[in-house]
Amino acid sequence: MITLRDIDVVFHDEDRVVTAVKDVNLDVEKGEIYGIVGYSGAGKSTLVRTINLLQRPTNGSVLVNGQDLMTLKPHSLRQARKKIGMIFQHFNLMESRTIFDNVAYPLKGSGLNKKEKAAKVAELLDLVGLKEKTDAYPKQLSGGQKQRVAIARALANDPDILLCDEATSALDPKTTSSILDLLRELNEKLGLTIVIITHEMSVVKDLCHKVAVMEDGRILEQGPIVDIFTEPTEHLTKEFIDTATHFDQEMAMVLAHPETQKLNREGILARLSYVGVGTTQPLISTLVRDFDVTVNIIYGHVEILQNIPVGNLLVAFTGDQKKIQDAIDYLRTSGVKVDSVSELLEEYVTKED
Ligand SMILES: Nc1ncnc2c1ncn2[C@@H]1O[C@H](COP(=O)(O)OP(=O)(O)O)[C@@H](O)[C@H]1O
Ligand SMILES: [Mg+2]
Repeated sequence: MITLRDIDVVFHDEDRVVTAVKDVNLDVEKGEIYGIVGYSGAGKSTLVRTINLLQRPTNGSVLVNGQDLMTLKPHSLRQARKKIGMIFQHFNLMESRTIFDNVAYPLKGSGLNKKEKAAKVAELLDLVGLKEKTDAYPKQLSGGQKQRVAIARALANDPDILLCDEATSALDPKTTSSILDLLRELNEKLGLTIVIITHEMSVVKDLCHKVAVMEDGRILEQGPIVDIFTEPTEHLTKEFIDTATHFDQEMAMVLAHPETQKLNREGILARLSYVGVGTTQPLISTLVRDFDVTVNIIYGHVEILQNIPVGNLLVAFTGDQKKIQDAIDYLRTSGVKVDSVSELLEEYVTKED
């Protein structure tokens, strides 16, 4: 659907040369929701603007729906762009026009007559849940409602792709969540392909099928979100995941707790991580029954990513050393990742001293 190959974008800013995007390759499949996450200045907006050639890359190729956009004549490019909608952080509505006029604006030159246009706008406003706001002005709407209008406007020409540049960054958490729900619904109902830029990993976690992590114009890693969340390879990715899940912070608090330190002296502490449905409860029962060890769950955290549970547990094993080792081996063969936390603990014990 979208194929970016070897994209560079270089700006010449007075006497400074800024390489905003470096050597980026990205493939977005039809019907996918793809997140691009990174801190401010990473090059996210510049990269996404190359998808509709609002920004021409210095090098590389942009293929959308099998068309090489860089080779299109102006008229064909305008046609191709109509199939790529875009929304922004600050909505970019025309303040002096009604909601109707804002949504109808991209239908100029569409060949629809007045009645057909009115029907199309009504359908779009219904789709985003704002039917009753047709005659209102932007200033009479909340931030979330304004973004819904912007979404309706972006969908006016029935695009295949919607680009979202920090579309929820100006919204409170509850409104953010309702806009993400709407985007998910549009993806499912219309098969809309969505590329969403954000600096918030929680947005990616709640909405996206895949994610790319960007820094200094480069994509550091990319892939299905379950893979990225369970096996991040880059430090930056871990940092983003941590802000979305708070797992490391909570783990640190638990590890520093005297009760945890005590359990560590009596047995073996381990972090169990798993991906998949309901594996741990039966596994832990098996350990107790068949391996004759005691398993104390000190802390547990389960994320649901793309309907797949991703669990992290901190447990203390007590019992015979050999039996504990057998139990750990059994967990590993059952697909549970088992990591020792003794090194982490030493860190916290030293801190306390
Ligand atoms: N039109 C431009 N001229 C010069 N530099 C730019 C321009 N647009 C973006 N940049 C620079 O490119 C880099 C990436 O910017 P941007 O794509 O906006 O990042 P992000 O969206 O991740 O915050 C920044 O250093 C920014 O200052
Ligand atoms: Mg940006």
